[in-house]
Amino acid sequence: MAYGDYQNLIYGAGLQGIQPRWPVDFATLEARAAAAMEPSVLGYVQGGCGDETTQRRNAEAFAHWGMVPRMLVDCSTRDLSVELFGLTLPSPLFMAPIGVTGMCTQDGHGDLAAARAAAATGVPLCASTLSNDPLEAVAGAMGQTPGFFQLYTPRDPELAASLVSRAEGAGYKAIVVTLDTWVTGWRPRDLNVANFPQLRGHVLTNYFSDPVFQRLLGKPPAHAPSEAVGLWTRLFGKVLTWDDLGWLRSLTSLPIVLKGICHPDDARRAADVGIDAIYCSNHGGRQANGGIAAIDLLPDVVAAAGDLPVLFDSGVRSGTDVIKAIALGAHMVGIGRPYSYGLALGGAEGAAHVLRCLLAEADLLMAVNGYPTLAAVREAGAQRV
Ligand code: GLV
Repeated sequence: MAYGDYQNLIYGAGLQGIQPRWPVDFATLEARAAAAMEPSVLGYVQGGCGDETTQRRNAEAFAHWGMVPRMLVDCSTRDLSVELFGLTLPSPLFMAPIGVTGMCTQDGHGDLAAARAAAATGVPLCASTLSNDPLEAVAGAMGQTPGFFQLYTPRDPELAASLVSRAEGAGYKAIVVTLDTWVTGWRPRDLNVANFPQLRGHVLTNYFSDPVFQRLLGKPPAHAPSEAVGLWTRLFGKVLTWDDLGWLRSLTSLPIVLKGICHPDDARRAADVGIDAIYCSNHGGRQANGGIAAIDLLPDVVAAAGDLPVLFDSGVRSGTDVIKAIALGAHMVGIGRPYSYGLALGGAEGAAHVLRCLLAEADLLMAVNGYPTLAAVREAGAQRV
């Protein structure tokens, strides 16, 4: 079945009087999720840094990129597959890491639900270090779909090594190192309600289940929850510099992806030091305000990255956005808030629905625009309008 056939299922069900359980577009999805989610979780997911200018720009900037269709091309089948790190993936879409994924479902197991959505759709999940379920269980729920592990590098090198080796042991296919979040950006929505989920003991299971963390704590975290959270705050965010990359490299034979690269010089330097892929992202506008839309930064990062694949996220809200990011040189495209809202409304099935809608829209756009492959999308490119 082609991704675009999802619309036939929807229209077909309509003939039986059945409407889609969840919205197919981001605006309606977000409004439905906003009405359903616990306010503090909604504020954390929906919010961003400062007055959220960067966050808004990220999404709005897609509108000033446009694509030109080609006609009389046989697009009766489309190939959205990509190769990455020796894997063949059915599409360029992936679920970006989100630290409160676990809290997005009412049962508190949103990480497992996201992993099940990955299993159901073939869309990889980049699992966050911040998780309600241990990374091994999350990997176990992904079925045949490969997963990536996002690393918040702890200040303690042994704990960092332990997390990385657990991820490798659990079968993740790459380590995605987040560079921009050793400290949390200024987030008024969370500050106004004095809510930071980690300080309340949420999403810290990968730490609490870790043998090195347990040794450093000196007692089982369950017996000393506030001490465990205190230790976590002391260990959380290592300030990484270029000098640390050799050490990171020594921890694993998995591909290493640097997340948060927005400047072409940083992309060039990452390529020079033997990093495996670059991840162009401004963290969905959650970390720094006053920035430039990530999609506008992507073309220069891609040019500087040379042969390195460039993953992208920040502001992607639709299948059209996915194809625009590909046209501007992304190798894979991550989504964040849309799948959180799917999880909040319908768990694994809700998230899978969101992914299927994005893929259907992307596939149908390629069909209509005369782009049978992602290479054709890239060749057609996108122009500033
Ligand atoms: C953490 O990565 C966050 O964006 O809250």
